[in-house]
Amino acid sequence: MFMKYLAILGRQPEISLAELEALFSNVQGINKNLATFDSTTPPDINRLGGCLKLAIPLNKKPLEYMANLPAGKITLGLSDYSKNTTKKTASMEALKLKKILVRHGRSIRVVENKEAILSTATSLHNGLGGKNDRKIELIKINNDWYKVIGVQDIEKYAKRDQNRPARDAKVGMLPPKLAQILINLCGPLKPGSTVLDPFCGTGVVLQEALLMGYRAYGTDLNERMIEYSSKNLEWLSEKNFFLGHFGGHDRELGRSPRDDGRERPVSQEKCFFSLSQGDATNFQWDQPIDAVACEGYLGKPMSKIPTEIELKEQKQECGAIVTGFLKNLVSQIESGTPVVIAIPAWLREDGRHERLDILDLITDMGYNVNNKSREGLIYCREKQIVARDILILRKK
Ligand SMILES: C[S@@+](CC[C@H](N)C(=O)[O-])C[C@H]1O[C@@H](n2cnc3c(N)ncnc32)[C@H](O)[C@@H]1O
Repeated sequence: MFMKYLAILGRQPEISLAELEALFSNVQGINKNLATFDSTTPPDINRLGGCLKLAIPLNKKPLEYMANLPAGKITLGLSDYSKNTTKKTASMEALKLKKILVRHGRSIRVVENKEAILSTATSLHNGLGGKNDRKIELIKINNDWYKVIGVQDIEKYAKRDQNRPARDAKVGMLPPKLAQILINLCGPLKPGSTVLDPFCGTGVVLQEALLMGYRAYGTDLNERMIEYSSKNLEWLSEKNFFLGHFGGHDRELGRSPRDDGRERPVSQEKCFFSLSQGDATNFQWDQPIDAVACEGYLGKPMSKIPTEIELKEQKQECGAIVTGFLKNLVSQIESGTPVVIAIPAWLREDGRHERLDILDLITDMGYNVNNKSREGLIYCREKQIVARDILILRKK
């Protein structure tokens, strides 16, 4: 049976929305921060890089719901997304609930609102929306009430980002959340599916694929990057990130099944990964390839807006690699295989992004471009010159 869920979208809401659309049905944006969607199974917030919180409709008056909570002290947080709400009105709403419940003999602590909505960090640090059913966060959207059932664990993302033994600022630091989004944009994948990253660098996409219960297959032109990925994935499996981190998946145990001499045993035998050095524009990958998720070559790192000449050079260099890769790949994957790739887009003086003009070429190669519009899904941090333009493709 389908159930309705509410998602609080991340900082780049159009990318978060695309992630939900790739995985769930009936996705409806409520405003730029919120969307609802339907799912037959409860979604796992730990697998949704673009989602800050998940909630379900309360289907009751908040007072009635709270009065029936199990005995013991209640911690209540309230996030008010109604129109024209302020920190003050949100706090007053929470205190009103507290007052009535105290009159009914309940002990209750209200989490202080620094704004009308509680930040992810505040919800997380107060244990709201987690396993303790007396630590609750309610969401109010005009007359509708929801109860938070999951909060993005920003600390776990930071740990597996910052503590990796092999990092390289030059190849860029793909945030684990964005790596998860790239994988999710491939659409639902069966547990144990093989996710290929042909530009694997230090292995962030591979790491997230493993954590999601998939097999990870990485290749990169640079042998040093293969060593870095190997180091990072060994570290990941030793760190027990897998244990209890994601529920709901049968993770296969054992060694990589590849018997081509490239097999690498995985510490504690908790995951499968395979790594090889190779140029994505001519490499012959092992089969099967169930999905391709990657951050391609992004060109020169830049700290100021490029001149027209620099831009032309970079577009040529990066364009040749991405089109060479897609051309090489198309004959090696089955029809319907998803290919999600982040390619560079450069900030211009007018604040717009200069994109690679390759969509027609890609279509002619035998891919459908699945982005809703031909406008890119641009992932960009403030003042970043080289942004990531996410293409969602599927072999015709
Ligand atoms: C932006 S980085 C990817 C970083 C990666 N997402 C990570 O987690 O570290 C791009 C990578 O593409 C690799 N690369 C560049 N040209 C390539 C090619 N023709 N074939 C394969 N890899 C290539 C670079 O060595 C680099 O590691």
